[in-house]
Amino acid sequence: MKEVIMTIHIIAASLWVGGMLFMVLVLSPYVRKLPDFVHHFQEVGKRYSFWGTFVSLTVLFLTGLYNMNVMGVPFTKVFSTNTVYAHTLSHKLYLFFITVVIAVVHDYVLGLRAHKSERLRILSAVAGVINLILGITIIYLAVRLRFGG
Ligand code: HEM
Repeated sequence: MKEVIMTIHIIAASLWVGGMLFMVLVLSPYVRKLPDFVHHFQEVGKRYSFWGTFVSLTVLFLTGLYNMNVMGVPFTKVFSTNTVYAHTLSHKLYLFFITVVIAVVHDYVLGLRAHKSERLRILSAVAGVINLILGITIIYLAVRLRFGG
């Protein structure tokens, strides 16, 4: 069972971080050349908001809670356990909660209004890049957990 849950956790992590990498490296350079590119970004953004923000972040949290129990540091204890592993895991959780807040603001505030002003469009892009950097940092913390924290 723990192998299946960790596999689902890693697939969700791939969808979240891989999706953002795809948009920044592959989709964005192409879409920017299109007339009315903001509209295309918003259409793609709506779909990624469902599979990325809603599905993958929810799955990451639920499978992550299970992983924590398997590793013997349940959610109720992680912020009060004085081990290197628990500290790294709590840092991963802090970055995860910041990721969720930025994703919600990006998807439901900035992204939806990006066609209204250049400033909102740029803020939306910046929020997206910040979440990509956070996603890569969270993977680094996950690998540190694998090696003991
Ligand atoms: C953007 C969010 C997240 C990403 C990208 C992510 C990524 C990963 C990856 C790639 C692993 C496998 C590491 C390895 O075994 O080498 C992992 C393991 C793990 N994740 Fe996450 N994760 C995320 C969110 C969470 C959350 C929210 C929790 C807790 C609620 C969590 C708890 C764990 C635990 C306990 C492990 C096992 C670590 C170990 O090997 O001891 N993760 N995560």
